[in-house]
This record gives sequence, C-alpha cells and structure tokens, in this order.
Amino acid sequence: MADRVPVAVFISGTGTNMAALLYASRAADCPYEIVLVASNNPAAAGLRLAAAEGTATFALPHKGMARADHDAALEAQVLASGARFIALAGYMRILSPEFVARWEGRMVNIHPSLLPKYTGLQTHERALAAGDEHGGCTVHLVTAQLDEGPMLGQTAVAILPGDDADQLAGRVLIAEHQLYARCLAALVTRETDPAHLIGEVRKHAMALPEAEETVSHGMACFGIVKGKKFAYVNANHHGDGRIALLVKISGLDEQQHLIETDPARFFRPAYFGDGWIAIRLDLGDTDWDDIAESLQRSWMSVAPRKLAAIMEF
Ligand code: GRF
Repeated sequence: MADRVPVAVFISGTGTNMAALLYASRAADCPYEIVLVASNNPAAAGLRLAAAEGTATFALPHKGMARADHDAALEAQVLASGARFIALAGYMRILSPEFVARWEGRMVNIHPSLLPKYTGLQTHERALAAGDEHGGCTVHLVTAQLDEGPMLGQTAVAILPGDDADQLAGRVLIAEHQLYARCLAALVTRETDPAHLIGEVRKHAMALPEAEETVSHGMACFGIVKGKKFAYVNANHHGDGRIALLVKISGLDEQQHLIETDPARFFRPAYFGDGWIAIRLDLGDTDWDDIAESLQRSWMSVAPRKLAAIMEF
C-alpha cells in the first residue's frame, strides 16, 4: 500500500504491544508502518525482535541524563526516521511536558485498565481488590496528565473467579494487542477522513453563537440561524481529491497573500469569489486553533451587529 503513515514506537521492556503493532502492519491494508522502535533500556527484549524484523532501533539509557535531554535525543531519532506519530507501548519514563505538547494529538499510549479507573501502576491488583467484574485496557492520546487524555478505544476483559493479577494481566494483554493496532490504524487514518474532519469543524463552528448546520450543494455548511453562511466544508469537490474549509476573509488582497504564503494549504474556492478562502484540512498538520480563529472571524463578518457585539475578540 502506498503512503503508509510512519510511526515510531517507544518501549522499555518486553515489547509485546510493539510486536502486535508491527505484525498488524504487515497486513496489506494497514495504514501505518513502524519505522523506528526506541527505548530507554538497551536490554529491552523488544529491540532485538524489532531489529530481527528489519525495523530500525535506537536505545539510550536515561540514567544520568536530564529528562528534557533524554527526550530530545529520542525525538531527534523520531524526526530523522520520518515518523509522524509516536506509540508508547510499555514506555516506563514520564515524558517532559514540552515533548508531550509538541506531539499533542500524535502520541498515543496503551494502559492496562478501563480508564478513568486505575491510572498508574498495579492496575490489575486494584481491579481485583475492588471486586470489579471486568479489567481491561484503554488506548488514549497522551496529554500532560499521566494516563489521561482523550480515549480512542477500550476493551473490557471479564475477571474470572479465582483470578490473580498475573492471570488477569495475561488475558488483558491479548486484548491490548488487538485494541492497539486497531486504534492506531484509526488514528492515522482519521486526518484524511472527511467524516472526522467535518466533525472537527462542526465542534468549532457550532460553538459560535446562533450557529446552525445545513447542507448546501452536498457540502456541510454552517451559518447563523435565519442569517448568512460563514463556513462550508468541501470534500472532494468536483473530484479534486481535497478536503477544505471555506471561510470568509477581508477580500482579494488577503486571499492572494494567503495563497502566496502557503500555496499548498490555501486556494481560491471556485464559485465563491474574492471574499472567501479555502483552507486544506487534509494535509495532516492542521492547526485546529487556527481553524477555530478563522471560523470566528468568518462568523463575525456575517453576524448581525447586535449578535457580533456579544463576541469579544
Ligand atoms: C502493557 O500492559 C501496557 O498496557 C503497559 O505496559 C505493558 C507493556 O507490555 N503500558 P509490553 O512491553 O507491550 O509487553
């Protein structure tokens, strides 16, 4: 398959989740490929496996290194590998907030509990002690809070009478191996998935006062109730293969300036004229804060004065 999304995996130990991700990527229709396996532990068993499978590896012990320096050394390898996402798979180091912020939305983790229950360690022991009916696992985006961040998927695993933590952990691990590959595939695919991109636009557009969603010529379209439209999402318009947000701008000068500054991202939308700009959403590096701002400006430019006055910019 052409154009698989390159992913780096960080491990500290056995690396069975890494192996599951790697072997899942052997499927012809898998949308990602593992381009690097990195570890803070040169003895991690997963490194040998990855190397034997022909995947690049990198190991750097963290002992004696400042956290930020260790993170930076790993990050340099990730960038050199071309990876666009990082999957943490039993990586037992806390990453610096700066590193986490730089990879926001592009770094995932797997945790052996049904979050929000049991963050941290000894998850199975705690599930058993609490008398839970299920343990399980969660794949989530990594944020500055340990084992928090938006969840991408969960699998519940029944606790059997007489289970000890190791027995439960073993069965949860089987579920982890299935769940992780599936969630990673969905994550790397969604940035070019029209339904996901329209959903992201919808969240920001509908947060604006008196916004409503309609459909215009088959396009998702956002306007002010009983008023004018301020945004359209163009998905493969006339088969052009692009997904783009159309918003209002000040006019031809701004339109030309934007297109000159970043011709891969901005284009003049056909049939809309000088007062609009099309912003590609499917390039994989969309800054959603910028998109939210563009939507606000566009909303402002069509809002009746009374309504506009309630928005302070
Ligand atoms: C897994 O249980 C995972 O959920 C947790 O660490 C363990 C790693 O196991 N974060 P492995 O190294 O993938 O076998």
